[in-house]
Amino acid sequence: MKPELDSFWMPFTASRQFKKSPRMLVKASGMHYWDDQGRQILDGVAGLWCVNAGHNRPKIVQAIQAQAGEMDFAPPFQMAHPKAFELAEKVARLAPAGMNKVFFTNSGSESVETALKMAIAYHRARGEGQRTRLIGRERGYHGVNFGGISVGGMSGNRKMFGSLLTGVDHIRHTHDLARNAFSVGQPEHGAEIANDLENVIALHDASTIAAVIVEPIAGSTGVLIPPKGYLNRLREICDKHGILLIFDEVITGFGRTGSPFAATTFGVTPDLMTLAKGLTSGTVPMGAVVAKQAIHDVFMTGPEHLIEFAHGYTYSAHPLACAAGLATLETYADEGLLTRASQLQSYFGEALHSLKGLPNVIDIRNCGLVGGVELSPIAGEPTKRAFSIFLDCYDKGVMLRTTGDIVAISPPLIIEREQIDRIIETLRGAIQRAA
Ligand SMILES: Cc1ncc(COP(=O)(O)O)c(C=O)c1O
Repeated sequence: MKPELDSFWMPFTASRQFKKSPRMLVKASGMHYWDDQGRQILDGVAGLWCVNAGHNRPKIVQAIQAQAGEMDFAPPFQMAHPKAFELAEKVARLAPAGMNKVFFTNSGSESVETALKMAIAYHRARGEGQRTRLIGRERGYHGVNFGGISVGGMSGNRKMFGSLLTGVDHIRHTHDLARNAFSVGQPEHGAEIANDLENVIALHDASTIAAVIVEPIAGSTGVLIPPKGYLNRLREICDKHGILLIFDEVITGFGRTGSPFAATTFGVTPDLMTLAKGLTSGTVPMGAVVAKQAIHDVFMTGPEHLIEFAHGYTYSAHPLACAAGLATLETYADEGLLTRASQLQSYFGEALHSLKGLPNVIDIRNCGLVGGVELSPIAGEPTKRAFSIFLDCYDKGVMLRTTGDIVAISPPLIIEREQIDRIIETLRGAIQRAA
């Protein structure tokens, strides 16, 4: 029976277009979806940058089923269940050295809000309560809650929602087509853009700034790879001024860049790291903030019967999510998925860069198993060219994602070479047809 389409107000969707011509997924396995017409669709974006282990992996499915039968819910405030601790230990072991305290949330957006609050509360707990200012970056995406859109830098996500948080500033993005177009891996130029942070600090004074938040690779704004040396420079400036550095690793976490986290890939350790998506391979909503021990310890003062950090969600460390997370991490370990992107990245990168020279392709970017193809917009109709390419690829049985006039590719980490070829050839055809 076909569902009525009227009542569901769809998130981030051109919903009138969708409801005229729905794309309805009904089944998934491994690298594929099936739609309601029985068509098999190759997943080129890991669902929504999250299904890193591939779809419906048996170990994960069984763990969720077993947990649902055993205990549905346990309150996370003043109570707990063992899998929450187990999962936190495992995430801490994967994280960069010294980052070993894990606070669970239910999404990337909640992880961002949690990290921003943690940063402000941390400074207050150390007696620097005037450090409340938050610094984001142009073109940043940090989810959709008020903190996240305030530090975020995508005007489309901000302009409808009033004046947002006060006390927020932004540094420039690193996208530089003139100097870096068609870079393979990290671009050569742009480390100096991190010095913007010094200007912002000079304007507001370091003593008012709590934290800087950036995505190591900006994903949702179109796959912007950090220039060589850029993240190191941000780290140095934050250290110099006592400002916390937050990496939003909601997309880059869990193997996307060829090691567990982009922090490890790029060799720069933040103070706080936000996670979600790949933590459960998209199976059950879950996010986390990973904090350095020293940040956590600052809160551990005062009478022991008092709550140290007044924050948390009813579904923090939900038993189903913890079971899914544990089985996901096991699947990653069993199959070497957290480093598989490093083995495939040159094949993937070469295939992707073979699209150079096609009509309207103005840049190609890649790192690990994430790639972006930027197209020149149709005059007066921004986003339309990429969207038509997305629809064309879907019609040919390949699911990709677009943002603005950029096509993003981030397949499950189990992808095989032939499937990379199929994605690229389908995209090639669609770009040619859209010319
Ligand atoms: C870097 C980053 N942060 C936060 C989020 C928000 O995550 P969620 O949609 O789970 O709230 C996303 C989602 O794509 C993201 O890419």
